[in-house]
Amino acid sequence: MSFIKTIEKDLKELVNKLGYQIDNITLSTSNRPDLGEYQINDAMNLAKIYKTNPREIATKLAEKLQEDKRFINVNIAGAGFINISLSDDYLISCMNKMMEDVYNNIDLQNKKTIILDYGGANVAKALHVGHLRSANIGEALKRLANTLGVKTYADAHLGDWGRPIGLVMLELEKRNPNLPYFDPNYEGDYPKDNPVSNATLMEIYPLASTKAKESEEYMEEARDMTARLQNGERGLMVLWQKIMEVSKTDIKRIYDRLNTTFEIWNGESDSAIYIPELITYLESKNLVKDSEGARIVELQESTDDHEIPPLLLVKSNKTASYQTTDLACIWERVNKYNPNEIWYLADARQSLHFEQVFRAAQKAKIVNENTKLEFIPFGTVNGLDGKPFKTRDGDVMSLENLLDLAKMECEKKLLPNITEPERDKIAEMVGISAVKYADLIPHRLTDYIFDITKFSDLDGKTGPYLLYSTIRMKSLLKKAKEANISYQSIDVIGNNFDRDIMLNLINLAGSLTKSYESRSLNELADYIYKLTSSYNKFYSDNRILDEENITLRSSWLALTNLVLNTNLMLLNILGINCPDKM
Ligand code: ARG
Repeated sequence: MSFIKTIEKDLKELVNKLGYQIDNITLSTSNRPDLGEYQINDAMNLAKIYKTNPREIATKLAEKLQEDKRFINVNIAGAGFINISLSDDYLISCMNKMMEDVYNNIDLQNKKTIILDYGGANVAKALHVGHLRSANIGEALKRLANTLGVKTYADAHLGDWGRPIGLVMLELEKRNPNLPYFDPNYEGDYPKDNPVSNATLMEIYPLASTKAKESEEYMEEARDMTARLQNGERGLMVLWQKIMEVSKTDIKRIYDRLNTTFEIWNGESDSAIYIPELITYLESKNLVKDSEGARIVELQESTDDHEIPPLLLVKSNKTASYQTTDLACIWERVNKYNPNEIWYLADARQSLHFEQVFRAAQKAKIVNENTKLEFIPFGTVNGLDGKPFKTRDGDVMSLENLLDLAKMECEKKLLPNITEPERDKIAEMVGISAVKYADLIPHRLTDYIFDITKFSDLDGKTGPYLLYSTIRMKSLLKKAKEANISYQSIDVIGNNFDRDIMLNLINLAGSLTKSYESRSLNELADYIYKLTSSYNKFYSDNRILDEENITLRSSWLALTNLVLNTNLMLLNILGINCPDKM
C-alpha cells in the first residue's frame, strides 16, 4: 500500500479510537505550504455529525499526531484544519523503500480483465488525426492498467467490413473492369500478384468517397458492392484479402511509430462471422422487429430522458450495420475472454452509437449485470484556426504527415554532433514524444490546438522537455560512474530542493490512481512534469558531483537515480521512449 494510503488508514483508525466513526480520512497536499505540507480537514465533517466544536476534535487528533514520529509541525489552523509535515527520517525511509521496489508506493487495483478497443483504423483509408487520440489515450490507459495489476487485451478492431471497402472496390472495378475478381461467374484461379498498392489505396479512397457524395448512383453501386462482399462473393473475398494485406501492413507501421500495440489484431469482419448466431439468439429473446425492409431492435425505455433510436440489426440491403458488428463483437469477446470490463475509445461524437450497442447488449443479456461496458470519449484535435485540423490546402491531414511534421521540427533541436543514422532515429523519438505528450496533457474530453512549435519547445511543458531533462539525469549518473563515485541509499536531506523532489515522489501512487479512475492521462502527464521540474530546480541550484559532503553527494545521486527510474516508468506508461542523447 502507498505511503499516503497507509497514513490515511492509520489516521482513520486513530479517529475511530478517539470515539468518532468515519469511513475515510484524506491527507491532502496543502494549499498553504507555509503552514504545512499536508492538511487534514475531516474534523469539520465529524463536528457536524457529532454536533461538537471541530477544534475540539482537531485538538484531540493533533495531540496523537504529535506523538507519531512520521510527522512534524503538527498545528491547527482556523476552525479546525490540521496541518502537518513529514519528518526527514520518515521521508528518507519512504525514498529508500521506493528505491527497493517502486511498488512500495503504488496502489494496485482489484484483479480483473479488461478488453480495450482503441484502434479503429479503417482498412484502405489513411489514418488521420482522429485516430491519434484513441491510439495514444488507449495505449496509455492499457499500460497504466497493467502497472496497476489489471490484465488487459487490446484489440485493434479495424474498420474492415463496411462501406469504405465497398467504395474502394467499386473504384478499382471502374479503373480495371477486366480484373477477374468482379465477375461473379468466374471460376478460374486469381492472379498471384496484388492488384493494389498502399499508394493506390490512399489515392482511390478519397476520390471514391467524393464521387459517392456527389452521385447517388455511384453510392448505390458502392452499397451493392459492399453487400456482395458481405455475402461472401468469391472474387471479392479474394480481392478483399489482398487489400487487407497491403493496408494492414501500413496500419501496423503507423501504430508502431506511435508505440501503440495490440494483442488482438481483429477487425469488424472477424465479428461479422458471429452475426447469424447473434440474430438467432436475439430472435429467441423476441427482440427483433421488421421495419421497412430492415430488421431492428428497439431500445427506448420509458425512463429515458432522451431519444434512443432502435439498433439497426440488418439493413434493407442485407448488409450489417456498424452497430451490428459492434454488438457481434461483444458477443465474441464475452465468449472468448469473459472480460470484467470492455473499454471503448472513440471520438465523443460516437456516444449515441455506443449507448445503443451497450443498451442492446444489456437488454439481450449478452453481457451479465457485472460486465461493465464503458465508452471513453475524447475531444478533437484542432488547427491553429480552432477548426478540425487540416492541411494548408484544407484537406484532412494524414496521421503519417503529421508525425513527419513533428519529427522534422524536433530534428532541428537536436545537438549538431548527432549524425545519421542515429539522428533520424532520435528525431523520430523526440517527435513522437512531442505529439504524444501534447495529446495526453489536456483532459481527454478537452479539444486542443495542434501547434507543433509549442509542442516541441524544449523549455515548455512538452515531451521534448521531459526527454531532455531525463537524459540529463542519465548523463549525470554516467559521469558519476566514470568518476568511480558510488551511491546506494538516501541518508540525508540537503535543502528544500531535494525535499521538494521527495514530496513529489510520495505522490506517485495518487497520480497513478487518479489517472486510472478518470480514464484520463492528464493527471499523470502533469505529475511527471511537476516531478521533473522539481528535479531541474534542484539540479540547477546544486553542484551534485562537486559536493564535498560525501553522504550528501551519494544521497543526491541515489535520489537522481530514483527520479530517473520513476520518469522512465511514467514515460513508458505514456508510450514515450527516451533516447540516451538528443
Ligand atoms: N473505425 C471507427 C472509425 O474510424 C472507429 C471504431 C471504434 N471502435 C468500435 N468498436 N466501434 O470511426
